[in-house]
Amino acid sequence: MNTNPIGIFDSGIGGTSIWREISLLMPNENCMYLADSKNAPYGDKSVEEIVELSIKNTELLLNKGCKIIVVACNTATTNAITYLRDNYNVPFIGIEPAIKPAALQSETKSVGVLATKGTLASSLFHSTTANHSEGITVHIQEGLGLVPLIESGEISSDKTTELLEKFLKPMLEQNIDALVLGCTHYPYLIPILKNIIPSYIKIIDSGLAVAKQTKAILEKKGMISTTTALGKHQFYTNINTTVLESFLQTDASNCAVEYMDF
Ligand code: SIN
Repeated sequence: MNTNPIGIFDSGIGGTSIWREISLLMPNENCMYLADSKNAPYGDKSVEEIVELSIKNTELLLNKGCKIIVVACNTATTNAITYLRDNYNVPFIGIEPAIKPAALQSETKSVGVLATKGTLASSLFHSTTANHSEGITVHIQEGLGLVPLIESGEISSDKTTELLEKFLKPMLEQNIDALVLGCTHYPYLIPILKNIIPSYIKIIDSGLAVAKQTKAILEKKGMISTTTALGKHQFYTNINTTVLESFLQTDASNCAVEYMDF
């Protein structure tokens, strides 16, 4: 039994969509979450900067005793996970855009991907797309400006709706029937997305699949916690705690949110 925490990091609050699935699937695991909101968005940064920020987050979580690291950010996964796996001796779970399930579910053979510039430009994104898109047309769209809006808590403002309408219009014209959310911030937009796109379009996000993969790796490596006590969840943010607290929507006594300068 290993009760050390599962370490999770993101460029901000988006990865809480992944943390939520992990905590639901493994309620007895302790978690530690880093929201690097001060440096958001990662999606507009160079590969070198994204790798450097990912190293900083990883080392912080490892110094606090985390047993596995979930890179709960598509941009950090697609640009930095290879480096992290090559240089640190713990398991890493990443979030890759879910092209494969989208391609398998598409009947129109037309799939949309909304992601950051950094994710769409990465070689991991190109190889994943090439490997899973035979017979499928993949329409990509950069979600420029969405992450800062979500980080500031503007998830249902007119500005957010207008941006989404502009980004989705070309995909809708291409008859997509599956939309991949290629950024862990975007699941928070699902309520407004559903007002913009027809209901037959499947919205694909990776949260549950990532939680299952994390559990499978912990089991395989004999690192899963077998305690029956409810897990404790420690969140750190490097800006003020208000937005993160509002996204967590919890006042549970096993969750603590703190400011930390990192
Ligand atoms: C960003 O920080 O630009 C988005 C994070 C992500 O790609 O999940």
